[in-house]
Amino acid sequence: MGSDLDAIDKRLFDAAEKVRALAYAPYSKFRVGAAILADDGNIYAGCNVENAAYPVGNCAEPSAIAAMLAGGGKRIKRVYVTGPGKDPVTPCGGCRQRLREFADQDVTIISHGVDGTPLSATLGALLPHSFGPEYLDAGDA
Ligand code: THU
Repeated sequence: MGSDLDAIDKRLFDAAEKVRALAYAPYSKFRVGAAILADDGNIYAGCNVENAAYPVGNCAEPSAIAAMLAGGGKRIKRVYVTGPGKDPVTPCGGCRQRLREFADQDVTIISHGVDGTPLSATLGALLPHSFGPEYLDAGDA
């Protein structure tokens, strides 16, 4: 990893951690932060938002995607997810698909339980043989 990438990942990590502190996770107590480097060069971050009606809570990744779109970003270039513990906090299956909507297969997703070692994987590795917007010819609608 070159020094430029190190610097970007440090900024993404810091953004994910900053928003993670604001997560609303009173039920699981499992606070998650996600930071996206977008095609406009900006970093967009989001946290998980739980709900008393458990199934309608949402993960950090869609919060970050919504922030990206609201801020004018269109495509995901890199993702950094942080959470508690030693194990890498990898995006859930649904979030992999949500990221797939806005990211190419070779986009790197870094999953980091902050007491452990970050795990880097491409979206294509996390969600192989996936279905995406190009199948419907409506990706930029
Ligand atoms: N969670 C995320 O926000 N992102 C992930 O990548 C993994 C799980 C959240 C959902 C829920 O609020 C809590 O972590 C426990 O599952």
